[in-house]
Amino acid sequence: MCGLDRIEGTAPSENTIASADLIVNGSAVEHIPVLAETLAEQISLPPDGVMVDATIGHGGHSFLFGQNLGPEGVIVGFDVDKNAIHRAQFNLKDLSCKVILIHSNFSQISKQLHKEGIEKADFILADLGVCSAHLADVEMGLSFLVDMPLDMRIDKRLKTSAADIINNADEKSLADLIYRFGQDRGSRRIARFIVGARRSRPIATTGQLAAIVCKALGQPQQKRKSKIHPATRTFQALRIAVNNELENLEKLLTSAPELLKKDGRITVISYHSLEDRLVKNDFKHNEKEGIYRIITKKPLVPSREEIAGNRRARSAKLRIAQRQ
Ligand SMILES: C[S@@+](CC[C@H](N)C(=O)[O-])C[C@H]1O[C@@H](n2cnc3c(N)ncnc32)[C@H](O)[C@@H]1O
Repeated sequence: MCGLDRIEGTAPSENTIASADLIVNGSAVEHIPVLAETLAEQISLPPDGVMVDATIGHGGHSFLFGQNLGPEGVIVGFDVDKNAIHRAQFNLKDLSCKVILIHSNFSQISKQLHKEGIEKADFILADLGVCSAHLADVEMGLSFLVDMPLDMRIDKRLKTSAADIINNADEKSLADLIYRFGQDRGSRRIARFIVGARRSRPIATTGQLAAIVCKALGQPQQKRKSKIHPATRTFQALRIAVNNELENLEKLLTSAPELLKKDGRITVISYHSLEDRLVKNDFKHNEKEGIYRIITKKPLVPSREEIAGNRRARSAKLRIAQRQ
């Protein structure tokens, strides 16, 4: 079966929802911070350290580092999702350090930190993408396994939803978007099927879109060859486009050098190759310029044990650079 059903026996992708990961005894499970132990081995903060968590989420990583900060220490957390900010506020309330949470895109990091009177940080962390809970949230409209309105705006202040793009972009633009951000070789065919389907009625839900992609790719006949759900790449492409993910990451990477103290570290955890390539190239470029020393020559990845306990970690890659 294609569309809303889990494909049995396939490896989960970053967009795959494992329902057992999300709901236990009727309540949402906390997001499990990815590569937390690895990070703890690589980053140590002084008690009065300044940590900038560019993607605070549920505050999982910040909580771990915040426990080692004293009252002089500061955590500044960013998130584009207002609910994540509230969640983090609750989860970090018992830390003794100062916690400043900002409902803003990390592309605005310099401006926002300066507004708070913070010039330099010991540690900048960006754990990209979405929280586990986002995938189950019908308001986010991200899942191809559960039928929900096709939205994908993590930041609800954004004007253009995934449905706007899917129903209005011309066929070539759609194909280019799916190829560029989803790296799907079936992009032209998928775009053709989308344009054909929307002639009879607008594509309003994730389930409708997933079914169209499956039809375009000739699933389910070929599904056994692929390790991921056929709609994974199209959904990834749309999410990247709707949320300007790569552009925002570039802005964060450009701002980071001037915000780090000498010997301060920037760490990025990415979940797909487009993000990872940007980080890798930025770190390399800054190393050549004498601005960074790369700490991770190869990206650090989760152990099998970690992946078994947290399937979202499966595609994670962590890179660290140190300000010179
Ligand atoms: C993977 S989660 C972070 C989880 C967090 N490390 C934890 O342990 O709880 C990523 C978070 O970043 C947020 N986010 C994604 N892109 C963002 C951006 N450009 N600016 C600020 N927040 C962003 C998402 O809303 C999400 O809450």
